[in-house]
Amino acid sequence: SFVNQLGDERIAPAALVPSLLRLSAHSGVTLPLDLFEGRRNTAGLDPTSADMATSLQAAWITADLATPPETAVDDIGQIVDTLAAAQRGWNALAVEARADILDRAADALERDLPLWCALIVREGHRTWADAIPEVREAADFCRYYAQQAREWMATRTLRSITGERNTWRLRGRGVWACISPWNFPLAIFAGQVVAALVTGNTVAAKPAEQTPGVAARFIALLHDCGVPRDVLIGVYGAGDTGAALVAHPQIAGVAFTGSTAVAKVIARTLAGKDGPIVPLIAETGGINAMIVDATALLEQVVDAVVQSTFRSAGQRCSALRLLCVQEDMADGLLEMLRGAIGLLRVGAPSDLASDLGPVIDAEALAKLQQQIAQLEQQARLIARAELPADLANGIAPVAFEIDAIEHAGEEIFGPVLQVVRWRGEIEPVVERINALGYGLTLGVQTRIDQRASQIADSAHAGNVYINRNMIGAVVGVQPFGGEGLSGTGPKAGGPLYLTRFCSESTLSINT
Ligand code: NAD
Ligand code: ALA
Repeated sequence: SFVNQLGDERIAPAALVPSLLRLSAHSGVTLPLDLFEGRRNTAGLDPTSADMATSLQAAWITADLATPPETAVDDIGQIVDTLAAAQRGWNALAVEARADILDRAADALERDLPLWCALIVREGHRTWADAIPEVREAADFCRYYAQQAREWMATRTLRSITGERNTWRLRGRGVWACISPWNFPLAIFAGQVVAALVTGNTVAAKPAEQTPGVAARFIALLHDCGVPRDVLIGVYGAGDTGAALVAHPQIAGVAFTGSTAVAKVIARTLAGKDGPIVPLIAETGGINAMIVDATALLEQVVDAVVQSTFRSAGQRCSALRLLCVQEDMADGLLEMLRGAIGLLRVGAPSDLASDLGPVIDAEALAKLQQQIAQLEQQARLIARAELPADLANGIAPVAFEIDAIEHAGEEIFGPVLQVVRWRGEIEPVVERINALGYGLTLGVQTRIDQRASQIADSAHAGNVYINRNMIGAVVGVQPFGGEGLSGTGPKAGGPLYLTRFCSESTLSINT
């Protein structure tokens, strides 16, 4: 077998690489839009390079994060009325005018990248290595959706029957509620909002209560770039504010990214409303698995596992949660994983040396501690990293071995990995992963091409990654989103995303 050919003289765990996360800092990076012209440009994106580190340091000192006041639930009616009144005029603009605003916003994000990174690190407690690709991703969303809108929203002339002229076009639906989570405080917020705007909708934008400052700053940026103030209004507050917004009778559509439980609450609210049927785009969580067989390259697997599980302190919907390893190579892999986890540096997010920072807040920490305590009872500890004593909301990256895929439980939104061994055929493994009901990301590590295709064909997963990490989908290149409990689609950063924000109309003229 491949394993025997490789021999047992594998790299000793401690010598694996000095820092997996730092050395692979770019493997999950979002590329600037030159990509769409066929060029890859990652230059200048390394936070530890001297120039970038100096710019980030300067931005860190000067970045001024203002928290907007909470929106009173009683004011939501007035906000939505204002947006509804403005929608007709905004929708009537040429698509080019709206798309140009998005391009200007992308330019501004790229110009002030260090500042935006500093705001994200400050408010979202993300590391610099996470913040840089996040700003690039936000800029990519702006440019990609601008480009897509120009293509999709042009009126198309269709085949005509004699004596008739037929055209087809997409237009905005009305007022959209865009509701986002805290884990990508800029990119996810921006992606939803600019997609809704460029298609001719007006937007009530409700960021997560943990990260309103970055969102308010992005709204201000869009206003400066030309979005009228009555076309985009921030709505700030917790879940009750979001619920009141969704329940408003004039909301024409909801774009939601967050937990599966809240997506279901929103779906029920929309289904129970009088009036038109309101579309919901829900992008939610997952119990994302990686399947590793005995032919996989161990070093590559360990790198991909550490990146996918622990980057961003595991606070990514795409993150690896459940590693399914073929029995034959499990012991060797777990040994290397132990070594790699021991090397991870948890620290302040503003410290360039930190591989991962703390989790978002005390509530998230308490939930994770409870989930880990349960695993300590029911599973076998594989490895746990060191945790500095003085890090608020810090949590040590940890891995456990469990006995069956079905024991994976609920999504654990933090730096926690569960590992399970499999033996026999691959198909039942995929079926058992599918049976968990989620369908966001799936990793596959094998050197048997036919097996990789077989898994990709039978897996219920929106994004399948073969022989690489499974995070950091690139806008326009790896459209991102899941199925089942993981979301409704269409995929963010994909060619169908804008269409869901639109109504279609066909015009038939008797000539
Ligand atoms: P969450 O569902 O608690 O909150 C998300 C947003 O919904 C917040 O703005 C919140 O205030 C709002 N909200 C809460 N209750 C509401 C209600 N009843 N009505 C309307 N709005 C309400 O999620 P979170 O803790 O902020 O984020 C973590 C979750 O998001 C994880 O499950 C993660 O997997 C998921 N996520 C998914 C994606 C994706 O693209 N699929 C991306 C990032 C995060
Ligand atoms: N789009 C993000 C990723 O792929 C969530 O990691």
